[in-house]
Amino acid sequence: MSKHTLTTATGSPVADDDNSISVGERGALTFDNHYTFEKLAHFNRERIPERVVHARGSGAYGTFTLNKSLKNYTIASFLQEVGQKTDVFVRFSTVGGGQDSSDYARDPRGFAIKFYTDQGNYDMVGNNTPVFFLRDAIKFPDFIHSQKKNPRSNLPDPAAIYEFWANHPQSLHQVTILMSDRGIPASYRHMHGFSSHTFSFWNSKGERFWFKWHFKSNQGIENLRNEQAATASPFGAQQDLLGAIDRGEYPSWTAKVQVMTEEEAKSYAINPFDLTKVWPHADFPLIEVGQLELNRNVENYFAETEQACFAPNNLVPGIGASPDKMLQGRLLAYQDAHRYRVGTNANQLPVNAAKCPVQHYQRDGTMAGTCPANGAVSVQGSGVNYYPNDRINDGAPVPEPSVAEPPMPVLENAWVTRYGLADDEDHYTQAGNLFRLMSESQKDQLATTIAEGLVQATESVQQRMLEQFNRAEPDYARRIRSVMDALS
Ligand code: HEM
Repeated sequence: MSKHTLTTATGSPVADDDNSISVGERGALTFDNHYTFEKLAHFNRERIPERVVHARGSGAYGTFTLNKSLKNYTIASFLQEVGQKTDVFVRFSTVGGGQDSSDYARDPRGFAIKFYTDQGNYDMVGNNTPVFFLRDAIKFPDFIHSQKKNPRSNLPDPAAIYEFWANHPQSLHQVTILMSDRGIPASYRHMHGFSSHTFSFWNSKGERFWFKWHFKSNQGIENLRNEQAATASPFGAQQDLLGAIDRGEYPSWTAKVQVMTEEEAKSYAINPFDLTKVWPHADFPLIEVGQLELNRNVENYFAETEQACFAPNNLVPGIGASPDKMLQGRLLAYQDAHRYRVGTNANQLPVNAAKCPVQHYQRDGTMAGTCPANGAVSVQGSGVNYYPNDRINDGAPVPEPSVAEPPMPVLENAWVTRYGLADDEDHYTQAGNLFRLMSESQKDQLATTIAEGLVQATESVQQRMLEQFNRAEPDYARRIRSVMDALS
């Protein structure tokens, strides 16, 4: 093996990496210790802000293979031909805890996929649950504050968690999932992934379809009980994913979509853009479309997993957003977070860089590189930096009108105001349906987990929560009440 010379950050060979230069053996350091100073200064700058949510996570590379052409629904280039393969980077995460929390919190799990397509990066930034606690982005900061640590004590605060939910019956469906026996996945390999939101496909005829992603674990579903989670290694999910891929046991998921036509959306009983509701499979069956496999670990956790930037607005021609009021807020939030957390040119980092030509007139900013990452062609170097210009025959980029998204329909006689979805206040039926599907022991586990948190809330919060459970299913409330009585 050849010997490699240690260098400074600028490549100059280093003679000694153990001893600083000092005035005599026991004396002070001198100003010509530039290498010591470089080390100390760089060390001071090793941290970037952690993600405000989903701070703790694990990532890996892999492949998405298409098994069914979606040509009829979308022009998305990676969804056209059976057998087509697209490189991906996937990051799994918990939501509420900081970077040094446990992999085994009772918390939803993030399930974010970056598809490096030949028409740009497409990010599916979903969770392991098909619904969410909220349906309007304006509530997200309040919700997250209530779930994170108490601002005074810096301790978890179950009373605040339940206080938020008592004031937001729309959370009941997701609360039922979170507190159920699926609330603590045994590993990232043993859980499903969902876009949760409704997105849109559009095809070459300009027809639009609403759709949702489902990624079903081929490893099966496995979960931990509270007492198992309490003693599990906080790094268990990271170890599990890393180890499985190192051993060549590549985890995989079967990709499916649910599709709704624009006509169906107009008359369907459930608001198709309400993130607190699922689309029943009986009405919108799952269509199998491909396989997602993870087969390569990252080389450097910080450079790749920590600096990975996923954004729901990283869309490609053929895939659009929907009027979902949570999704709309997310279309703004993520790139803003990336500019703060990673920097203006975050998309030039190898893990974030597209694998197709990136050609635009944006220039400069912190850490701007002229060398395109991942082999992508870039005109950022000496190319013209304004549009329009007279150099289109010399390679200056021009817009491509054929990828324009068809106009988004307005589903009702719309007024611009604050709505609150007053016509769709049934927060209880789907939560009740989920409860009724559970076995006796699953119902007991659910009731116990909720009761253990709820007893710590105020009398008024307990009352309002029990009313919500009662409206979903009287037996649901009865079981929780009886565990609470036993605990108090
Ligand atoms: C309006 C609602 C929401 C807002 C404002 C919001 C905001 C954020 C922000 C700021 C981050 C950190 C991004 C970063 O620093 O890279 C994040 C991460 C994330 N969010 Fe959301 N979020 C919302 C709802 C949701 C929902 C409904 C889901 C799932 C369906 C979701 C899934 C994720 C995932 C998976 C990550 C981690 C991505 C990664 O691995 O880097 N979020 N969110």
